[in-house]
This record gives sequence, structure tokens and C-alpha cells, in this order.
Amino acid sequence: MVKLITSTQELLKTRSAETEVIGFVPTMGNLHAGHISLLEAALKDFDHVYFSIFVNPTQFGPNEDFNQYPRTLEKDLKLIEDLLINYPGKEVVVYSPKHPQEVYTDDIKNRVISVKGLKDIIEGAIRPGHFDGVATVVFRLFELVKPYKTYFGLKDYQQFLVIKRMIQDLNLPIMIQGMPIIREPTGLALSSRNQYLSPQQKEKSLLLNYGLKQIEDTLAGDKLNIPVARELITKLKNDCNWNYLELRDADTLDEDLSSSSKVTILGVYQLGTTRLLDNRQMELK
Ligand code: PAF
Repeated sequence: MVKLITSTQELLKTRSAETEVIGFVPTMGNLHAGHISLLEAALKDFDHVYFSIFVNPTQFGPNEDFNQYPRTLEKDLKLIEDLLINYPGKEVVVYSPKHPQEVYTDDIKNRVISVKGLKDIIEGAIRPGHFDGVATVVFRLFELVKPYKTYFGLKDYQQFLVIKRMIQDLNLPIMIQGMPIIREPTGLALSSRNQYLSPQQKEKSLLLNYGLKQIEDTLAGDKLNIPVARELITKLKNDCNWNYLELRDADTLDEDLSSSSKVTILGVYQLGTTRLLDNRQMELK
């Protein structure tokens, strides 16, 4: 069964009448197979799952696509209903607030949750304030939904680390699971923003996954290969469509890998105004 809640008052009332532990998947809607994989993971763990659909204004910069971001609630609800046929007896509560004021009520509208260290680097350096917006809304959603466990896609790897760090720093009693990237058959990571791409841009976008794979193959899980992997990164960056392409520690995102046992390759490839994110993680020996 799918239940839709559009007001925070109703959400709080519903949650306070429940005693069972719940899983929670926060999203901005316009669902694709990546979101569905998060929901399926939650449905495997819990009978009762909360799923939010909210295009959060505070994580968009002034010249970003907040107004244009696809809002497809009816279609999203239908996808969830169809999925639930495979999970008889389970319930998904969709919290889709009608107005931002439902989330940012007067008492908390000036509150900002800021995850120092991670929020200003790499993606955060290009999108100032973005991770404050993400951490602030996710904290608010946690506060309202009170989940036992939450699920985040690893496509937004830095976002996953920001939320994981927020949970640790604030001692929130919430488990977080990072879920593997779901890709199109071509290798392009699924994203709601892929639909902005023209056919030519779609073809060019394959260089993103291909570049990351080349670096991964060069590194081959061996610390000794870091210098040659870094040389390859410099060479790839001659293609000015890369916003960034970085080899970093997988937990701290530090550049210094001397004591790293796991690394991440993070890249953003921009085509027109569309920024495509992707990443890979690997153990180092
Ligand atoms: O990844 C997203 O869709 C958003 O950043 C999130 C986590 C739902 C917060 O608005």
C-alpha cells in the first residue's frame, strides 16, 4: 500500500502513532531505477518504509535548475505502487510536502546544518552552500521521519560522506547504507538530469565513465601506481568538459593518500549546462 502525506502536521501525527522501526529514502522525485533500488533495499529490510519527494530549494544555487527540476509526483507514485506488487503486505508512506514552508517551518527556517571539512571542497567548492542545503534538509527530514535506517545512492558520493559525517558528528541514532550506482547499458550513471542531454551530448557523456574506468585500471589497486594514475588524470583534464577529476581518500576526501587504504575517483563532466557526476571506489594495497 502507498500512502501520500503532503503536510508536516499529518506526518508528525502519523509517526507519533507508530511504534515500529522504519527505513527512510529521501529523494527529490522524478524517480528512475537508481531511486527504485534504494526503495527496494529499504523494503527488503523493513515492512514500513518512508520515502520523501521534495525538491529542496536550499541546495540549489541562484543560477541552478531549481525551477526547471522535473516534478512528476503522479508518475512517481505509480512507479512505487507498481513496485509494491512485489512486496505484498508492505507499506510505503510518501511524504511530499506541497510547499517548502512545510519543511522549513518558522521555528527552524534559519537553522543551517554545516558539515565542516567536507562541505567546501571538490563539489562544494563549485557549488558554494550546496552541502549546507543538503545537510540541513536531510537533518530536518530525519527529525520529522525518525528513521532507524536510511539509504543513499553512491552516485552522489560526496553527499553520502557529508550525511554519514553529520550522523556521526551529531550522534544521530540512524544507520546509513550507501547503495551502488545504477547505470544505463552504456555505462552512464542514472540521474534525473540525464534527460536534459541532447543525443550528441548523450554520446559524449560516455567519456565520463570511460575516463573513470581508465584511471581505475591504471591504478589497479596498487599504491605504487598513484603517480601514473595522477599523470593520466592531468592528461584527461585537457578535455575542458571536466569540471573536476580527482583521486582522493575514500573516507576523508583528502588529497594525501600516504595512509589511505581505500580511494575514490570523483569526476564531473559538463555538457552544455548539464553537470554529470560519477565516481568509483577501490581498495589499495
Ligand atoms: O540526492 C538527493 O536527491 C537530494 O540531495 C536529497 C538527499 C534528497 C536532499 O534533498
